[in-house]
Formats: sequence, structure tokens, C-alpha cells
Amino acid sequence: MSRIQAVRGTKDILFPDIDLWRIIEDISCEILELANYKEIRIPIFENSNLYTTSLGQVTDVVQKEMYSFQDKSQRYITLRPEGTAGVARAFIEHKLYVQTLPQRVWYCGPMFRYERPQAGRQRQFHQLGLECIGSIDPRTDAEVINLALDILNHLKISNLTLEINSLGNNEVRNNYKKALYNYFKDYKSDFSLEFQNRLENNPLRLLDSKDKMVQSLLEQAPSILDFLDNESRKHFHLVCSYLDSLSISYTINPRLVRGLDYYNDTTFEIKSNLLGSQDTLCGGGRYDNLIQSLGGPPVPAIGWAMGMERLLLSLPKSNIPNVKSLDCYIITLGEKAKSYSLMILQRLRNLKLKVDINFNEGNLPKQIKKADQLKAITCIILGEEEIQKQIVLLKWLSLRTQENISFSNISQIVDKINLYKNNNVSKVNKDVLE
Ligand code: HAM
Repeated sequence: MSRIQAVRGTKDILFPDIDLWRIIEDISCEILELANYKEIRIPIFENSNLYTTSLGQVTDVVQKEMYSFQDKSQRYITLRPEGTAGVARAFIEHKLYVQTLPQRVWYCGPMFRYERPQAGRQRQFHQLGLECIGSIDPRTDAEVINLALDILNHLKISNLTLEINSLGNNEVRNNYKKALYNYFKDYKSDFSLEFQNRLENNPLRLLDSKDKMVQSLLEQAPSILDFLDNESRKHFHLVCSYLDSLSISYTINPRLVRGLDYYNDTTFEIKSNLLGSQDTLCGGGRYDNLIQSLGGPPVPAIGWAMGMERLLLSLPKSNIPNVKSLDCYIITLGEKAKSYSLMILQRLRNLKLKVDINFNEGNLPKQIKKADQLKAITCIILGEEEIQKQIVLLKWLSLRTQENISFSNISQIVDKINLYKNNNVSKVNKDVLE
């Protein structure tokens, strides 16, 4: 049978990368929980119409990228391409709006989009995201942006730029779409079918077109900021002033439209210039009408999501953790020793030592070589003689010394190993000081 491989666009996450994932998750969780965000875990698949209703019929995600199928009961199901729609659905379903608002939630997990895989772009990828539901105050916008930057700064990710824009309300966007249409319509026949579709169906999507000719025409195109009504202009102005008060630098990019249609007013992206073409680490914005459009009450909201794989690609090498060394490796010689070995293993692990055991017997030198390869501090040798005397032979691998410890004093091993570690750390510190 031919070898079965992982599906294109998916990846296994193995050691030592998994340690980096944990660092990102732990740091983010700590920062978000301090900001009173609660974790939410929503299903990985939903009814397809959740996404077709909320993300926009003419978006790439809905038109080209959703993993959709009919289940055995002929229900239309979609693997979640993002988290916001599911969180909004859960917010309505569990009537979270009757509780104190805003409700602050965060999530981390796999998302699925049928895109062309490349560095920083996968078909199964992971997002860390937050949603703050129930406040229209522009301080919310500044706070959520600040939280994203706080996480990135704690992860020591540098070379970041924050771009923000305002898409105004529905009416603003409709007026602006008409103006863009009028501006581009004379060039329609010069462009590809894709361009023509965008122009007819959602002219806003021309703003993030990569086509050189479209880009050069955009130089003279009308700017959405000139179309904002008083309320949106005031909101945007306040968001900028709150960012200023937090000393957060940003660029206003009037061409920043996001790939999903539920946004209004503030939108933003945080980019890293170390990432190549898939350079957006974090994207988000306000979606004040989404919850109502899904059948809930009119509750405003804002949020963002970061791509975990892109975070990983931008982490500085200095973040790579020192793997905690193995405290002890248990080696057995003979049948009798085997039956004692599991008991000793359990006792040492209960005493919080990191302990491994060799289940594949071999001669003593071979087993000690394995302990060396695993960079164990010590190994415990259990042979017929040791069992008879009710002792273990504790061998210090780097010191090349050994001692006997009786079964009844096994907890001594913990003290000895801790002492060894402390001495080594203080020796390192001493070397640094000298
Ligand atoms: P998004 O811009 O579609 O927004 O995705 C957010 C982030 O997910 C991107 O900036 C990127 O880092 C990562 N990402 C997206 N697609 C891929 C992919 N195929 N492979 C790897 N990473 C990817 C949203 O999803 C919104 N739900 C964000 C939001 C939350 N808006 C309000 N609240």
C-alpha cells in the first residue's frame, strides 16, 4: 500500500515546536485573563449558513475557501474558517447578552480554509483570537489593539507595524462603493474577469488587489475617510487619540479593507516585515451589526485574531526554551529488577522528578549510552544484587561517580538532584559574574 501522508496544507506539530506553541498559549492566556477575558471553546464545525450569512456572500472565504459537506442526515456543515461567527452564535444561543456587558472572551484553535498553501498559509491553521462584545466605546477599540500588541511584545516579536482604518457605517460604505465603482468603471474592459467581478459585486475588494495596474489607479482613487459621517469620524478620531495616549504608533491606511464583510468603523492589522508575502500577524475590527444579523439583539462588538503559525515564524530564536533536562533514567538488568522498576519510577515521579525508563533491555554500557544521549543527570541501575540488598545504584552521568541509596531513603535522590542543579546554576551565575 502506498504511504499515507498528511493532507496538503496541514502540518503535524512535533517536539520541540510544541514547546513554542505552549509558550505562546501560556503568555497569551496570562495576559488575556488579567484583562478579564474568559476562554471560550466553540465547535470546530457549524451549520454552513452561519458563515454564508455572516462572512459575506462575495468574500473569497465563502466563495472559494470553505470546507463544506453534507453529513449523513443531509445537513450542510462547514469546518470553521474563523472564530468570530461561532462566538457570535454562542453569545446569542446562551443569551450572554443578559449578563453584564461587555462580555470578553478569547479562543485558540484550528480553523480551515481551502487556500493555496505557502509559508505562513495553511489549509488547517490555528488562530488565537478575542472578542469584546457589548461596548461601542472607542476605548474598547484601543484596548483590544493594545492587548494584541502586549502579547506580541511579551513574545519579543519585533519589526511590527499597526495599520488602522475606518470603514464607517453601512451607508458610508454604500456611498463609497458607488464612488469607487464610478471611478473604476471606465477601465473595466482593460481588466481581468476577476477584477470585473470584484468591481460589480464588491468594489471594496479592489482596494487590496495585488494587480499592479489596479494599484497604480488606486493612487488617485477616492478615500473612504472622506466619506465618513460625523459619528464614524468622531469614533475614529477618538480611537486614534486613545492609541496616542498609550504611545502606540500606527499608520492610517484608508485602503485597509478586511477579507470578511461583517466589519464597520475601526479595522486594523498588525504586520511583521519578517514574514514575506503572508505578513499579517493579526487582523480585526468592529462588527456592530453581526449579532443582530444573526438573530440576536443589537449588540456592538470588536475583536481580532492572530495566526499561530505566523506567530511561530516570527518568534525570535532567543525564545526557544531550554528543554528541561531528564533528572533520572532507570535501567534494569534481569527479570526481578523489572518488577521493582515501575514502583521506583512512580515514587520518583510523585516526588516531581522528570524520570524515564528503558523498556528495551540491552547490556549495561548500551543502556548507559542511551541515558547519555537523553542528557539525563543521573541514572538508576537496578540489578539482581541491588534488589537483594533493597538498594538502587545512583550513577551521576556527568560526574562519573556513583552511590548506593536504599529503597527506604529514595526521597534523598530528589534532594541530591536539586542540590546538584542549584550548584550548577550558581556555578553558571558565578562564571557570569566573574
Ligand atoms: P482574518 O484576517 O481572516 O480575520 O484572520 C486573522 C489571522 O489569521 C490572519 O491575520 C492570519 O494571521 C491568520 N490566518 C488567516 N488565514 C490563514 C491561513 N490560511 N493560514 C495561516 N494563517 C492564517 C479573522 O479570521 C477574523 N475572525 C478576526 C476577527 C476577530 N475580527 C474580529 N474578531
